[in-house]
Amino acid sequence: MSKTDQTVIKSSELEPIEKASLDELQALQLSRMKWSLQHAYDHVAHYRKIFEDAGVHPEDLQTLSDLDKFPLTAKRDLRENYPFKLFAVPMDEVVRIHASSGTTGKPTVVGYTKNDIDVWAEVCARAIRGAGGSRSDLIHVAYGYGLFTGGLGAHYGAERLGATVIPMSGGQTERQVQLIQDFQADILMCTPSYMLSLADEFERQGLNPADSSLRVGMFGAEPWTDAMRQEIESRCGIDAIDLYGLSEVIGPGVASECIETKDGPHIWEDHFYPEIIDPVSGEVLPDGEYGELVFTSLTKEALPIIRYRTRDLTRLLPGTARTMRRMDKITGRSDDMMIIRGVNVFPSQIEEEILKLPECSPHYQIELYTEKQMDKMRVLVELKPQCEHLSDDERAVVAGKLAHNIKSYIGVTSIIELRSVGGVARSEGKAVRIVDKRSR
Ligand code: DLL
Repeated sequence: MSKTDQTVIKSSELEPIEKASLDELQALQLSRMKWSLQHAYDHVAHYRKIFEDAGVHPEDLQTLSDLDKFPLTAKRDLRENYPFKLFAVPMDEVVRIHASSGTTGKPTVVGYTKNDIDVWAEVCARAIRGAGGSRSDLIHVAYGYGLFTGGLGAHYGAERLGATVIPMSGGQTERQVQLIQDFQADILMCTPSYMLSLADEFERQGLNPADSSLRVGMFGAEPWTDAMRQEIESRCGIDAIDLYGLSEVIGPGVASECIETKDGPHIWEDHFYPEIIDPVSGEVLPDGEYGELVFTSLTKEALPIIRYRTRDLTRLLPGTARTMRRMDKITGRSDDMMIIRGVNVFPSQIEEEILKLPECSPHYQIELYTEKQMDKMRVLVELKPQCEHLSDDERAVVAGKLAHNIKSYIGVTSIIELRSVGGVARSEGKAVRIVDKRSR
Protein backbone atom coordinates (compact mmCIF):
# COMPACT_ATOMS: atom_id res chain seq x y z
CA MET A 1 0.00 0.00 0.00
CA SER A 2 1.32 3.41 -0.93
CA LYS A 3 1.53 5.93 1.90
CA THR A 4 0.93 8.87 -0.44
CA ASP A 5 -2.69 9.88 -0.36
CA GLN A 6 -2.27 13.42 -1.65
CA THR A 7 -0.86 12.47 -5.05
CA VAL A 8 -1.95 15.45 -7.14
CA ILE A 9 0.28 18.46 -6.86
CA LYS A 10 -1.62 21.73 -7.11
CA SER A 11 -0.93 23.59 -10.38
CA SER A 12 -0.25 26.76 -8.39
CA GLU A 13 2.77 25.05 -6.83
CA LEU A 14 4.41 24.36 -10.20
CA GLU A 15 6.71 26.64 -12.13
CA PRO A 16 4.67 28.20 -14.98
CA ILE A 17 6.84 26.48 -17.62
CA GLU A 18 5.85 23.05 -16.31
CA LYS A 19 2.29 23.64 -17.52
CA ALA A 20 3.04 26.06 -20.42
CA SER A 21 1.70 25.34 -23.90
CA LEU A 22 3.92 23.39 -26.28
CA ASP A 23 4.27 26.56 -28.40
CA GLU A 24 5.55 28.51 -25.43
CA LEU A 25 7.96 25.75 -24.50
CA GLN A 26 9.29 25.42 -28.04
CA ALA A 27 9.74 29.20 -28.43
CA LEU A 28 11.78 29.23 -25.24
CA GLN A 29 13.81 26.21 -26.39
CA LEU A 30 14.60 27.85 -29.73
CA SER A 31 15.87 31.09 -28.26
CA ARG A 32 17.90 29.23 -25.63
CA MET A 33 19.29 26.79 -28.20
CA LYS A 34 20.52 29.67 -30.36
CA TRP A 35 22.24 31.14 -27.32
CA SER A 36 23.79 27.80 -26.33
CA LEU A 37 25.20 27.02 -29.78
CA GLN A 38 26.65 30.53 -30.07
CA HIS A 39 28.09 30.33 -26.55
CA ALA A 40 29.78 26.99 -27.33
CA TYR A 41 31.08 28.27 -30.70
CA ASP A 42 32.42 31.53 -29.26
CA HIS A 43 34.10 30.12 -26.17
CA VAL A 44 35.13 26.48 -26.78
CA ALA A 45 37.81 25.76 -29.38
CA HIS A 46 36.60 22.18 -29.76
CA TYR A 47 33.05 23.20 -30.71
CA ARG A 48 34.25 25.93 -33.07
CA LYS A 49 36.43 23.37 -34.84
CA ILE A 50 33.83 20.62 -35.15
CA PHE A 51 31.15 23.09 -36.30
CA GLU A 52 33.53 24.45 -38.93
CA ASP A 53 34.57 20.95 -40.03
CA ALA A 54 30.88 20.13 -40.49
CA GLY A 55 30.31 23.42 -42.37
CA VAL A 56 27.74 24.75 -39.89
CA HIS A 57 27.45 27.97 -37.95
CA PRO A 58 25.14 28.72 -34.98
CA GLU A 59 23.21 31.11 -37.22
CA ASP A 60 22.16 28.13 -39.38
CA LEU A 61 19.75 27.15 -36.61
CA GLN A 62 16.39 28.62 -37.56
CA THR A 63 14.12 25.92 -36.15
CA LEU A 64 14.55 23.30 -33.44
CA SER A 65 14.86 20.55 -36.04
CA ASP A 66 17.90 22.33 -37.58
CA LEU A 67 19.82 20.97 -34.61
CA ASP A 68 20.48 17.79 -36.61
CA LYS A 69 22.85 19.77 -38.86
CA PHE A 70 25.26 20.06 -35.93
CA PRO A 71 27.81 17.37 -35.10
CA LEU A 72 27.32 14.91 -32.26
CA THR A 73 29.65 14.80 -29.28
CA ALA A 74 30.66 11.80 -27.22
CA LYS A 75 32.44 10.87 -24.00
CA ARG A 76 35.65 10.61 -26.01
CA ASP A 77 35.47 14.38 -26.67
CA LEU A 78 35.40 15.04 -22.93
CA ARG A 79 38.34 12.69 -22.39
CA GLU A 80 40.36 14.28 -25.18
CA ASN A 81 39.76 17.70 -23.68
CA TYR A 82 40.63 16.59 -20.15
CA PRO A 83 40.35 18.22 -17.71
CA PHE A 84 38.97 21.70 -18.44
CA LYS A 85 39.35 22.37 -22.16
CA LEU A 86 35.60 22.20 -22.88
CA PHE A 87 34.84 24.91 -20.31
CA ALA A 88 33.33 28.01 -21.88
CA VAL A 89 34.04 30.42 -19.03
CA PRO A 90 37.26 31.47 -17.26
CA MET A 91 38.14 29.33 -14.24
CA ASP A 92 37.33 32.15 -11.83
CA GLU A 93 33.69 31.77 -12.82
CA VAL A 94 33.71 28.01 -12.20
CA VAL A 95 32.51 27.36 -8.67
CA ARG A 96 32.28 23.54 -8.66
CA ILE A 97 33.85 20.53 -10.35
CA HIS A 98 32.41 17.01 -10.47
CA ALA A 99 33.85 13.95 -12.20
CA SER A 100 32.76 10.46 -13.03
CA SER A 101 35.31 7.70 -12.93
CA GLY A 102 34.30 5.45 -15.80
CA THR A 103 35.82 2.07 -16.30
CA THR A 104 38.79 2.99 -18.42
CA GLY A 105 41.13 5.93 -18.76
CA LYS A 106 40.72 9.40 -17.40
CA PRO A 107 37.61 10.55 -15.55
CA THR A 108 35.05 12.77 -17.23
CA VAL A 109 35.29 16.21 -15.67
CA VAL A 110 32.40 18.66 -15.56
CA GLY A 111 32.21 22.24 -14.24
CA TYR A 112 29.50 24.62 -13.03
CA THR A 113 29.15 28.38 -12.69
CA LYS A 114 27.11 29.83 -9.83
CA ASN A 115 24.19 30.10 -12.24
CA ASP A 116 24.60 26.46 -13.35
CA ILE A 117 24.41 25.35 -9.72
CA ASP A 118 21.29 27.43 -9.38
CA VAL A 119 19.62 25.82 -12.40
CA TRP A 120 20.63 22.40 -11.14
CA ALA A 121 19.12 23.06 -7.70
CA GLU A 122 15.97 24.30 -9.44
CA VAL A 123 15.50 21.21 -11.61
CA CYS A 124 16.20 18.89 -8.69
CA ALA A 125 13.70 20.80 -6.54
CA ARG A 126 11.22 20.46 -9.40
CA ALA A 127 11.90 16.73 -9.50
CA ILE A 128 11.34 16.30 -5.74
CA ARG A 129 8.16 18.40 -5.90
CA GLY A 130 6.98 16.25 -8.81
CA ALA A 131 7.60 13.17 -6.65
CA GLY A 132 5.21 14.61 -4.06
CA GLY A 133 7.87 16.22 -1.84
CA SER A 134 7.42 19.52 -0.06
CA ARG A 135 9.13 21.79 2.45
CA SER A 136 7.62 19.83 5.30
CA ASP A 137 9.45 16.65 4.30
CA LEU A 138 12.62 15.13 5.74
CA ILE A 139 14.74 13.95 2.85
CA HIS A 140 17.38 11.30 3.52
CA VAL A 141 20.02 11.45 0.79
CA ALA A 142 21.96 8.20 0.43
CA TYR A 143 23.48 8.95 -2.97
CA GLY A 144 27.24 9.32 -2.62
CA TYR A 145 28.55 12.82 -1.86
CA GLY A 146 31.80 13.83 -3.52
CA LEU A 147 32.88 13.91 -7.14
CA PHE A 148 29.77 11.86 -8.06
CA THR A 149 26.89 14.24 -8.79
CA GLY A 150 24.20 12.19 -7.00
CA GLY A 151 24.60 13.35 -3.40
CA LEU A 152 25.18 17.07 -3.86
CA GLY A 153 22.64 17.32 -6.71
CA ALA A 154 19.89 15.79 -4.59
CA HIS A 155 21.03 17.83 -1.58
CA TYR A 156 20.81 21.23 -3.26
CA GLY A 157 17.45 20.34 -4.79
CA ALA A 158 16.01 19.34 -1.43
CA GLU A 159 17.33 22.53 0.19
CA ARG A 160 15.97 24.65 -2.65
CA LEU A 161 12.55 23.15 -2.02
CA GLY A 162 12.91 24.16 1.61
CA ALA A 163 12.82 20.57 2.86
CA THR A 164 15.01 19.23 5.67
CA VAL A 165 17.99 17.34 4.26
CA ILE A 166 19.84 14.50 5.92
CA PRO A 167 23.15 14.35 4.00
CA MET A 168 23.95 10.73 4.77
CA SER A 169 25.85 9.77 1.58
CA GLY A 170 26.36 6.08 0.67
CA GLY A 171 27.59 3.25 2.90
CA GLN A 172 27.21 2.57 6.63
CA THR A 173 24.03 0.64 5.88
CA GLU A 174 23.26 -0.27 9.47
CA ARG A 175 23.46 3.39 10.53
CA GLN A 176 21.34 4.51 7.57
CA VAL A 177 18.48 2.34 8.80
CA GLN A 178 18.90 3.56 12.37
CA LEU A 179 18.77 7.21 11.29
CA ILE A 180 15.78 6.67 8.98
CA GLN A 181 14.01 5.17 12.00
CA ASP A 182 15.15 7.81 14.51
CA PHE A 183 14.59 10.87 12.31
CA GLN A 184 11.45 9.47 10.63
CA ALA A 185 12.50 10.45 7.09
CA ASP A 186 9.72 10.89 4.52
CA ILE A 187 11.71 10.60 1.29
CA LEU A 188 14.75 8.47 0.50
CA MET A 189 17.06 9.23 -2.41
CA CYS A 190 19.48 6.45 -3.44
CA THR A 191 20.10 3.91 -6.20
CA PRO A 192 17.38 1.26 -6.54
CA SER A 193 19.90 -1.48 -5.82
CA TYR A 194 20.92 0.25 -2.60
CA MET A 195 17.26 0.50 -1.60
CA LEU A 196 17.23 -3.29 -1.72
CA SER A 197 20.30 -3.47 0.52
CA LEU A 198 18.58 -1.10 2.95
CA ALA A 199 15.40 -3.20 2.90
CA ASP A 200 17.50 -6.28 3.75
CA GLU A 201 19.10 -4.36 6.61
CA PHE A 202 15.71 -3.31 7.97
CA GLU A 203 14.75 -6.99 8.06
CA ARG A 204 18.07 -8.01 9.60
CA GLN A 205 17.31 -5.59 12.43
CA GLY A 206 13.91 -7.24 12.87
CA LEU A 207 12.04 -4.32 11.28
CA ASN A 208 9.54 -4.43 8.43
CA PRO A 209 10.60 -1.83 5.84
CA ALA A 210 6.93 -1.31 4.95
CA ASP A 211 6.32 0.00 8.48
CA SER A 212 8.96 2.73 8.20
CA SER A 213 8.12 6.44 7.97
CA LEU A 214 9.29 6.51 4.34
CA ARG A 215 6.62 7.55 1.84
CA VAL A 216 8.57 8.01 -1.39
CA GLY A 217 11.87 6.83 -2.85
CA MET A 218 13.58 8.70 -5.68
CA PHE A 219 15.72 6.13 -7.41
CA GLY A 220 18.15 6.45 -10.29
CA ALA A 221 21.80 6.52 -11.40
CA GLU A 222 21.43 2.98 -12.80
CA PRO A 223 18.93 1.12 -14.97
CA TRP A 224 16.02 -0.57 -13.18
CA THR A 225 12.95 -2.29 -14.54
CA ASP A 226 9.27 -1.85 -13.73
CA ALA A 227 9.44 -5.33 -12.18
CA MET A 228 12.05 -3.93 -9.78
CA ARG A 229 9.77 -0.96 -9.07
CA GLN A 230 6.95 -3.32 -8.10
CA GLU A 231 9.28 -5.36 -5.91
CA ILE A 232 10.48 -2.23 -4.07
CA GLU A 233 7.02 -0.70 -3.74
CA SER A 234 5.37 -3.80 -2.34
CA ARG A 235 8.21 -4.67 -0.02
CA CYS A 236 8.83 -1.15 1.31
CA GLY A 237 5.34 0.36 1.12
CA ILE A 238 6.52 3.44 -0.76
CA ASP A 239 6.04 5.09 -4.14
CA ALA A 240 9.19 4.39 -6.16
CA ILE A 241 9.91 7.31 -8.50
CA ASP A 242 12.42 7.26 -11.37
CA LEU A 243 15.05 10.01 -11.30
CA TYR A 244 17.35 10.30 -14.30
CA GLY A 245 20.45 12.29 -15.08
CA LEU A 246 24.07 12.22 -16.10
CA SER A 247 27.01 14.32 -15.05
CA GLU A 248 27.85 15.51 -18.58
CA VAL A 249 24.40 17.11 -18.85
CA ILE A 250 24.22 18.38 -15.21
CA GLY A 251 23.76 15.41 -12.85
CA PRO A 252 20.50 14.06 -11.34
CA GLY A 253 17.44 16.10 -12.28
CA VAL A 254 17.69 16.00 -16.07
CA ALA A 255 14.39 14.11 -16.02
CA SER A 256 12.11 12.85 -13.30
CA GLU A 257 8.84 11.04 -12.84
CA CYS A 258 5.72 12.69 -11.44
CA ILE A 259 3.90 10.87 -8.69
CA GLU A 260 0.44 11.42 -10.12
CA THR A 261 1.22 9.40 -13.26
CA LYS A 262 4.43 7.38 -12.64
CA ASP A 263 4.66 6.86 -16.38
CA GLY A 264 8.30 7.63 -17.13
CA PRO A 265 10.53 10.62 -16.33
CA HIS A 266 9.52 14.02 -17.74
CA ILE A 267 12.59 15.59 -19.29
CA TRP A 268 13.11 19.15 -18.03
CA GLU A 269 13.49 20.21 -21.62
CA ASP A 270 13.39 23.92 -20.95
CA HIS A 271 17.04 23.28 -19.93
CA PHE A 272 18.03 20.00 -21.64
CA TYR A 273 16.85 19.39 -25.20
CA PRO A 274 16.47 15.68 -26.07
CA GLU A 275 16.75 13.86 -29.39
CA ILE A 276 16.68 10.15 -30.19
CA ILE A 277 19.11 8.95 -32.83
CA ASP A 278 19.77 5.69 -34.58
CA PRO A 279 22.95 4.63 -32.75
CA VAL A 280 24.51 3.30 -35.94
CA SER A 281 23.66 5.91 -38.58
CA GLY A 282 23.32 8.89 -36.21
CA GLU A 283 20.06 9.85 -37.95
CA VAL A 284 17.39 11.54 -35.81
CA LEU A 285 14.36 9.32 -35.17
CA PRO A 286 10.79 10.51 -34.61
CA ASP A 287 9.27 10.54 -31.12
CA GLY A 288 8.04 7.10 -30.15
CA GLU A 289 10.91 5.22 -31.82
CA TYR A 290 13.61 3.54 -29.77
CA GLY A 291 17.20 4.66 -30.14
CA GLU A 292 20.00 6.47 -28.31
CA LEU A 293 19.19 9.50 -26.21
CA VAL A 294 21.12 12.67 -27.11
CA PHE A 295 21.09 15.93 -25.13
CA THR A 296 21.87 19.56 -25.88
CA SER A 297 22.10 21.89 -22.90
CA LEU A 298 20.12 25.10 -23.36
CA THR A 299 21.24 27.22 -20.42
CA LYS A 300 24.50 25.75 -19.13
CA GLU A 301 27.34 28.26 -18.92
CA ALA A 302 30.50 26.47 -17.74
CA LEU A 303 30.15 23.31 -19.83
CA PRO A 304 27.75 23.75 -22.72
CA ILE A 305 27.12 20.33 -24.18
CA ILE A 306 25.93 20.01 -27.76
CA ARG A 307 24.24 16.85 -29.04
CA TYR A 308 25.83 14.63 -26.41
CA ARG A 309 25.44 10.90 -26.98
CA THR A 310 24.36 9.39 -23.67
CA ARG A 311 24.57 5.74 -24.83
CA ASP A 312 21.23 5.28 -23.02
CA LEU A 313 18.61 3.49 -25.09
CA THR A 314 15.01 4.67 -24.80
CA ARG A 315 12.31 6.57 -26.68
CA LEU A 316 10.55 9.92 -26.31
CA LEU A 317 6.88 10.00 -25.34
CA PRO A 318 4.44 12.91 -25.16
CA GLY A 319 4.04 14.85 -21.89
CA THR A 320 1.28 13.82 -19.48
CA ALA A 321 1.55 15.28 -15.98
CA ARG A 322 3.68 18.12 -17.40
CA THR A 323 4.09 19.76 -20.82
CA MET A 324 7.60 18.35 -21.22
CA ARG A 325 8.10 15.08 -23.07
CA ARG A 326 8.79 11.89 -21.17
CA MET A 327 11.42 9.24 -21.73
CA ASP A 328 10.56 5.59 -21.48
CA LYS A 329 12.41 3.47 -18.94
CA ILE A 330 15.95 2.97 -20.16
CA THR A 331 16.23 -0.53 -21.60
CA GLY A 332 19.99 -0.43 -21.23
CA ARG A 333 23.15 1.40 -22.15
CA SER A 334 24.67 0.51 -25.46
CA ASP A 335 27.95 -0.20 -23.59
CA ASP A 336 26.10 -2.66 -21.32
CA MET A 337 24.76 -4.65 -24.21
CA MET A 338 26.14 -8.18 -24.05
CA ILE A 339 26.45 -10.04 -27.29
CA ILE A 340 26.20 -13.71 -26.42
CA ARG A 341 26.76 -15.85 -29.46
CA GLY A 342 25.14 -13.26 -31.67
CA VAL A 343 22.18 -12.43 -29.44
CA ASN A 344 21.99 -8.92 -27.98
CA VAL A 345 21.12 -9.06 -24.29
CA PHE A 346 20.68 -6.33 -21.68
CA PRO A 347 20.87 -6.94 -17.92
CA SER A 348 17.34 -5.46 -17.61
CA GLN A 349 15.95 -8.38 -19.61
CA ILE A 350 17.57 -10.87 -17.24
CA GLU A 351 16.27 -8.84 -14.27
CA GLU A 352 12.70 -9.14 -15.55
CA GLU A 353 12.96 -12.92 -15.81
CA ILE A 354 14.49 -13.23 -12.33
CA LEU A 355 11.73 -11.17 -10.76
CA LYS A 356 9.03 -13.30 -12.32
CA LEU A 357 10.07 -16.18 -10.05
CA PRO A 358 8.76 -15.90 -6.48
CA GLU A 359 11.77 -17.79 -5.07
CA CYS A 360 14.36 -15.33 -6.45
CA SER A 361 15.47 -12.07 -4.83
CA PRO A 362 16.40 -9.03 -6.93
CA HIS A 363 20.10 -9.42 -6.03
CA TYR A 364 21.83 -10.70 -9.13
CA GLN A 365 25.00 -10.46 -11.16
CA ILE A 366 25.84 -11.71 -14.65
CA GLU A 367 29.22 -13.29 -15.34
CA LEU A 368 30.48 -13.68 -18.86
CA TYR A 369 33.32 -16.10 -19.53
CA THR A 370 34.89 -18.11 -22.31
CA GLU A 371 34.78 -21.89 -22.54
CA LYS A 372 36.14 -23.77 -25.52
CA GLN A 373 36.32 -20.46 -27.34
CA MET A 374 32.61 -19.86 -26.82
CA ASP A 375 30.99 -17.03 -24.87
CA LYS A 376 29.06 -18.29 -21.88
CA MET A 377 26.76 -16.53 -19.44
CA ARG A 378 26.37 -17.42 -15.80
CA VAL A 379 23.64 -15.71 -13.78
CA LEU A 380 24.21 -15.52 -10.04
CA VAL A 381 20.95 -14.99 -8.16
CA GLU A 382 20.20 -14.95 -4.47
CA LEU A 383 17.24 -16.85 -3.15
CA LYS A 384 14.76 -14.94 -1.04
CA PRO A 385 15.44 -15.51 2.70
CA GLN A 386 12.18 -17.47 3.08
CA CYS A 387 13.36 -19.89 0.35
CA GLU A 388 16.75 -20.68 1.83
CA HIS A 389 15.43 -23.96 3.22
CA LEU A 390 14.88 -25.32 -0.33
CA SER A 391 16.57 -28.66 -0.91
CA ASP A 392 19.13 -29.16 -3.66
CA ASP A 393 16.48 -30.78 -5.83
CA GLU A 394 14.05 -27.91 -5.30
CA ARG A 395 16.79 -25.40 -6.07
CA ALA A 396 17.56 -27.27 -9.28
CA VAL A 397 13.91 -26.90 -10.30
CA VAL A 398 14.01 -23.10 -9.73
CA ALA A 399 17.31 -22.78 -11.61
CA GLY A 400 15.92 -24.89 -14.44
CA LYS A 401 12.83 -22.67 -14.69
CA LEU A 402 14.92 -19.51 -14.85
CA ALA A 403 17.29 -20.95 -17.47
CA HIS A 404 14.27 -22.10 -19.49
CA ASN A 405 12.61 -18.66 -19.35
CA ILE A 406 15.83 -16.85 -20.29
CA LYS A 407 16.24 -19.21 -23.23
CA SER A 408 12.66 -18.88 -24.45
CA TYR A 409 12.11 -15.14 -23.89
CA ILE A 410 15.61 -13.78 -24.57
CA GLY A 411 17.09 -16.51 -26.71
CA VAL A 412 20.33 -17.28 -24.87
CA THR A 413 21.53 -20.27 -22.96
CA SER A 414 22.58 -19.50 -19.40
CA ILE A 415 23.91 -21.31 -16.38
CA ILE A 416 22.05 -20.36 -13.23
CA GLU A 417 23.77 -20.36 -9.88
CA LEU A 418 21.35 -19.88 -7.00
CA ARG A 419 23.04 -18.51 -3.94
CA SER A 420 22.02 -18.07 -0.33
CA VAL A 421 21.35 -14.65 1.21
CA GLY A 422 24.48 -12.49 1.02
CA GLY A 423 25.96 -14.61 -1.77
CA VAL A 424 25.88 -11.86 -4.38
CA ALA A 425 27.93 -8.68 -3.89
CA ARG A 426 25.78 -5.84 -2.47
CA SER A 427 25.80 -2.34 -3.90
CA GLU A 428 26.24 0.87 -1.94
CA GLY A 429 25.84 2.95 -5.08
CA LYS A 430 25.58 1.84 -8.68
CA ALA A 431 25.25 -1.95 -8.81
CA VAL A 432 27.78 -3.87 -10.90
CA ARG A 433 25.54 -6.10 -13.00
CA ILE A 434 28.05 -7.53 -15.47
CA VAL A 435 31.40 -9.10 -14.67
CA ASP A 436 33.11 -9.80 -17.95
CA LYS A 437 35.78 -12.50 -17.62
CA ARG A 438 35.88 -13.35 -21.33
CA SER A 439 39.27 -13.75 -22.93
CA ARG A 440 39.64 -11.33 -25.81
O1 DLL B 1 24.24 8.78 -12.27
C1 DLL B 1 23.50 11.06 -12.07
C2 DLL B 1 22.38 10.64 -11.19
C3 DLL B 1 22.57 10.59 -9.83
C4 DLL B 1 21.15 10.32 -11.73
C5 DLL B 1 21.54 10.23 -9.00
C6 DLL B 1 20.10 9.95 -10.91
C7 DLL B 1 20.29 9.91 -9.55
P1 DLL B 1 26.55 9.54 -13.99
O2 DLL B 1 27.36 8.94 -12.92
O3 DLL B 1 27.22 10.45 -14.96
O4 DLL B 1 25.39 10.40 -13.38
O5 DLL B 1 25.86 8.34 -14.76
C8 DLL B 1 24.91 8.61 -15.76
O6 DLL B 1 23.67 6.58 -15.27
O7 DLL B 1 23.83 7.85 -18.59
C9 DLL B 1 22.51 6.26 -17.28
O8 DLL B 1 23.20 5.24 -17.99
C10 DLL B 1 22.52 5.92 -15.82
N1 DLL B 1 21.31 6.43 -15.17
C11 DLL B 1 21.15 7.54 -14.45
N2 DLL B 1 19.88 7.65 -14.01
C12 DLL B 1 19.20 6.57 -14.49
C13 DLL B 1 17.87 6.10 -14.41
C14 DLL B 1 24.39 9.95 -12.56
N3 DLL B 1 16.94 6.74 -13.71
C15 DLL B 1 24.35 7.33 -16.30
N4 DLL B 1 17.56 4.96 -15.09
C16 DLL B 1 23.28 7.57 -17.34
C17 DLL B 1 18.49 4.31 -15.79
C18 DLL B 1 20.13 5.81 -15.25
N5 DLL B 1 19.76 4.68 -15.89
